[in-house]
Amino acid sequence: MAIYAVWNNKGGVGKSYLTFQVAAEYARIHPLKKVIVVDLCPQANSSSMLLGGMLTGESNLHRIHYANPRLTISGYVEDRILSPYVNPQTGARYAVQVRPLNDPIPQNLFLIVGDEQLEIQSSRVSAATNPGPQEAWRIVHTWISDLIRDIVASWNNADHTVFIDCNPSFSIYTELALSASDRLIVPFSADGSSKRAVRAVLALVYGVARQPGQQQSEFFLNSRRFRMALPTLYMYVGNRLTQSNQTSAAAFKSVVNEIGEEIYAVWQANANLFCVHPGGALIPTSKRVFKQMFQYEVNDANTASVVSGTCGIPISGLTSGHRNVLGKNVMVNQTQLDKQVPNIRKLAAAIE
Ligand SMILES: Nc1ncnc2c1ncn2[C@@H]1O[C@H](COP(=O)(O)OP(=O)(O)O)[C@@H](O)[C@H]1O
Ligand SMILES: [Mg+2]
Repeated sequence: MAIYAVWNNKGGVGKSYLTFQVAAEYARIHPLKKVIVVDLCPQANSSSMLLGGMLTGESNLHRIHYANPRLTISGYVEDRILSPYVNPQTGARYAVQVRPLNDPIPQNLFLIVGDEQLEIQSSRVSAATNPGPQEAWRIVHTWISDLIRDIVASWNNADHTVFIDCNPSFSIYTELALSASDRLIVPFSADGSSKRAVRAVLALVYGVARQPGQQQSEFFLNSRRFRMALPTLYMYVGNRLTQSNQTSAAAFKSVVNEIGEEIYAVWQANANLFCVHPGGALIPTSKRVFKQMFQYEVNDANTASVVSGTCGIPISGLTSGHRNVLGKNVMVNQTQLDKQVPNIRKLAAAIE
């Protein structure tokens, strides 16, 4: 019954792609659990993929966005802007079962549809954290927990797992996602700014100073003030680590190692921020065991990845052969699938 936020303070690292793939695979291997994806990013990329990709998904999104009532995350946020400090208990109506809209998605996966309106609402959400009751900040930071609780209550508290796809920026929505979640999945890519982002996540969420005297985030300070639990670090996912060509392979590898060292240094200094898993596992005492527990990799599957995202077919259910993608005949071959499917399976299997 855990809630996972998929976040890195950096765009383009695969948060939405991995949310789509991992949530779908997780739902497939846990048919008796209910899986909820909360799309808290105004770009709504994971929603688009889950709802069928570039054609079907986008038209499903369009229809949902323009229906009245607006059954998206923005519809719920609007309910909360109207009733910021008293839970209106309207959350259950916003969970959309995906399967009837996109057949390859398991029937136990539900989506809180992403919505670009979030961007426009954000100043009103932030405003609600300020005046009002003494605990205004705390109460607004429970909105997403309330939403999830409403949905799960409507299912008679059925066993469930939640994935929240976040916006890269440390916006009010990212704060709400982090306050709602128990665990953090941090995708990263192999570049210098990913190395920096590993530290940025620590500074923003846990107040780990990068230099002496550095100011801590309001989010960290207020979470402490209101005694709100923070998510623990569950896994780092090196994503698309094999996209480079042959000639840059050695340089590329050293960047990946460098980031691995950075993550290990984070563990050595802040082991208390990590979620040792699975339940009952021993605390890692060597770098090798640490890496096994906390570091995962997802390769680029090239055409297969593009087809998967564009057509809204989870890669673990994609088969090789010719496919029609936006009017073009493209070939998905088994070697591409073999590059990524085992990674996604391993990742989903490691999620409790
Ligand atoms: N493992 C992967 N293999 C192939 N393409 C990927 C992979 N991960 C992400 N992508 C692609 O990279 C782009 C950026 O990923 P996305 O999930 O949108 O990043 P983020 O949500 O972190 O901004 C998207 O076009 C996505 O389809
Ligand atoms: Mg995204």
